[in-house]
Formats: sequence, structure tokens, C-alpha cells
Amino acid sequence: GLKIATIGGGSSYTPELIEGFIKRYDTLPVRELWLVDIPAGKEKLNIVGNLAKRMVKEAGVPMEIHLTLDREEALKDADYVTTQFRVGLLDARAKDEKIPLKYDVIGQETNGPGGLFKGLRTIPVILDIIADMERLCPEAWLINFTNPAGMVTEAIYRHSNWRKVVGLCNVPVGMKMGVAKALDVKPERVHVDFAGLNHMVFGLDIYLDGECITEEVIEKITSEGSSMTMKNIVDLGWEPDFLKALKLLPCPYHRYYYKTADMLAEEKKDAEEKGTRAEVVQKLERELFELYKDVNLNKKPEQLEKRGGAYYSDAACNLIESIHNDRGDVQPVNTLNKGAIASIPDDSAVEVNCMITKSGPKPVAVGDLPVPVRGLVQQIKSFERVAAEAAVTGNYQTALLAMTINPLVPSDIIARQILDEMLEAHKEYLPQF
Ligand code: NAD
Ligand code: G6P
Ligand code: MN
Repeated sequence: GLKIATIGGGSSYTPELIEGFIKRYDTLPVRELWLVDIPAGKEKLNIVGNLAKRMVKEAGVPMEIHLTLDREEALKDADYVTTQFRVGLLDARAKDEKIPLKYDVIGQETNGPGGLFKGLRTIPVILDIIADMERLCPEAWLINFTNPAGMVTEAIYRHSNWRKVVGLCNVPVGMKMGVAKALDVKPERVHVDFAGLNHMVFGLDIYLDGECITEEVIEKITSEGSSMTMKNIVDLGWEPDFLKALKLLPCPYHRYYYKTADMLAEEKKDAEEKGTRAEVVQKLERELFELYKDVNLNKKPEQLEKRGGAYYSDAACNLIESIHNDRGDVQPVNTLNKGAIASIPDDSAVEVNCMITKSGPKPVAVGDLPVPVRGLVQQIKSFERVAAEAAVTGNYQTALLAMTINPLVPSDIIARQILDEMLEAHKEYLPQF
């Protein structure tokens, strides 16, 4: 049997993961699942961990659920380590979302200044986890969900020697499901050629039963006024002629770049009327944990679908299942580019379709990205790379450089103001600065 350690086990998403492992028990026999958290997350860990135990019992699978605050105990001899932690919890996310708004800049947890700061807080912790893994489970695969997943994967490749890492996001699965829904067909019939970066991924071409239908899908999306989104991103429709000219399927997060003014206005309105997404999620989370406490509940409650992470477990469990069984099927993941996308350095992390094997993801080559999106993707890659360097070195000028080259930040002076205010606000979680 396999041993899996999940860091940030107190997450409200954990029942998704449990459900995924239960469903796949025949091909992925997880004998021990260790949910790890920190003292601040102890209560959540206990509540969600007990639900996990009830789920496993109800399903009748011989999976042991262990709850611990001792990371080393959890990592020892693990086969797979999954990470879903949030340094500074949702209070830190609320700051990432609110402070930039004061300067008329998008406040979002994985894009712009918020994404930078989430990375600055997270990267030192992930490198610490890797140092533990080097000692305690040197053969394990690290499956990282912790955002900003693209920047974190880049940081691991550039600033550690660990190579058995895969960065994961549910956005590509969500896009594929969205296409299937728009066409009213089963998702298995749809294939999307994904390429780009995390939260900056495009569907280059879309196929139904092997036939290319990209233009039809774009026609459909634009004429129906719905543009497919995730629960955490407002569904502002695309300008039809823009999307028809682009000839690509954008991801929900592209709205922050191609509809910056409109998204900023929405964010400001939301912040006033119902709070930022972090505040909405704080309320949702309280409701979820109330449900999780119910000793008669022994399955994943539907309310979890209000979180942005739908299909999270499908992405994680399908990936682990395919590595474990050397499947060779194609899945979109964050991995080393190795020439798959010609416009991005070979030694950078990209989000691209890969063949998933026992020795890891093998990226499917797509050549150059189309001209209209190439520059933006390269710019975001540069941002991620400089940001990762700032996270590791704690160098103020490098952090300012990352902030200023982000396309959502309109000036070097504003960049410095936001940087200074955010460094102060988050100082408890930024020991490197
Ligand atoms: P959350 O706020 O519930 O945090 C999860 C747990 O992490 C908490 O119980 C917390 O105590 C714990 N934690 C904090 N610091 C820790 C540390 N140093 N070590 C171990 N545990 C720690 O967060 P969430 O909303 O469940 O999201 C978790 C993470 O997953 C976030 O980083 C989020 O951005 C990410 N996420 C990513 C995707 C994706 O597509 N890649 C999807 C959903 C969530
Ligand atoms: C999407 C993204 C995740 C992100 C989540 C936020 O699923 O892919 O990376 O963490 O949305 O959802 P939330 O419910 O926390 O706002
Ligand atoms: Mn994501």
C-alpha cells in the first residue's frame, strides 16, 4: 500500500481529496493518508480529519487516516506528498486582495501584487518542506497545489535540486468541463491542447471526437454571452470580436489582463458590498466546517462546490494514479518546459499537456505560442522568475523589480508604495526580508 502525506490537511478541500482516493482505491491503494497541519490549523485539522475517517469507514476501504502536527512523522517514507497550505491563512489573502485596491490595482490572490506576496510567503516554506523530503522521503513525488502554483514550481526548479515535482491546478479541467457543458456532450469526448503558464493557460485548439472545433466553441461562447469561469472569478463576458480574432480559449484568469479596468471596478464594488473573495471564503469556510462537524455526515457535502477548487481531487488523484500505474495518458500539469513551448526558456516551469508516466510528466511540444499572446506569457514568466528570486533572497530591489514588471502594476512609484505597504502588513510571514 501507499503512504501519502498532505500538507495543509486542515483545508476545507480535504474531503475532495478523500473522495478521489476512495473512488480510485482499486488502482491506487492508499493505505496511509497523513494529514499534516500547523498549531493554528489544529481545530480545522481535527474536524475535517474526523470527517475523512467517517468517509473512509462508510466506503469500506482499508485506508488509515492519520492527523498530525508533526511534519517529519508524516513525511517519513511517504510515496507522494501533496501540498495545499496557505501561509498566513485567509487573513493574509484578504490583505493581498485589499491593499492593491487602494492604489487602483487589481487585488487578486495569484495575480498582480497579491500573487507576488503569496509567493513571497509560500516559497520559503515549500523549500523547507523539500529539505525535509530530501532526508525523510527522497523517492517521493511532490504534488504541489499551493498557490501561486506556477511561481512555486519555478522556484523549486531554480532554487532547489528537487526534480520529482509536479504543479497542479484545476483550471484546465474546469475549462474542459466548460467546453463539454457548452456543447452539451460528455467531457471524455472533448480534448483541449493546453499551453501557457499557471492561471495564464490557453486552449490552443479544441477537439470533439478528434475533430478540431475551436472556432465553433468560440462562436458558441461569445454568442451565448457566457464565457466560462470558476466560482472565484466574476463571469464578465468577452468582447465577441476580440475572442474571434484571438482564436484561442482563454482561461478565466485572463480577464485580469484583457479586462483590467472592468475587473478592477467589479472588485471595488464587491469589496464594498460583500467583502473581497477572502472574506466571502471565510464565511463559506465557517459554514463548511459547521457541516463537517456533524457526526452523521460521511460524504463530501455539496456546499464545497461554492469554492473555486472544483475538480481539484480529479486533477490530483488522476495525476497520482497515472504516475503510480505508468499510464501514459495526457494531463495538463506544471512541469519543466524542456522545449515544449518554444517561446519559454527550456529550464522554466510551464503549464502544458503532458504524457504522465512513472518517471513523471513528459511535455507535449506545441512550438511557438501564437503571436498575440506570446509576449504576455513571456512577461508573466519573467515576473514569476524574478519574484521567485526575491522570495529566496529577500532582496528588496528584486521584489520591487518583480512588482514593477507585473503587467497589472501601472508604475514604478505605485509599485514601491504597494510593496512597502504589503511588506509591512505581511512582515510576520516574511522573515527573509
Ligand atoms: P486554507 O486557508 O484552508 O489553508 C489550508 C491549511 O494550511 C490550513 O489548515 C492552515 O492551517 C494550513 N497551513 C498554513 N500554513 C501552513 C504550513 N506552514 N504548513 C502546513 N500547513 C499550513 O486554504 P485553502 O483555501 O484550502 O487553500 C490551500 C492552498 O491551496 C492555497 O495556497 C490555495 O491557493 C491553494 N489552492 C490551489 C488550487 C489550485 O488550483 N492549484 C485550488 C485550490 C486551492
Ligand atoms: C481556482 C484556482 C485555484 C484557486 C481557487 C480559489 O480553483 O485554480 O488556484 O485557489 O480557484 O478558490 P476560492 O474558493 O478559494 O476563492
Ligand atoms: Mn489554480
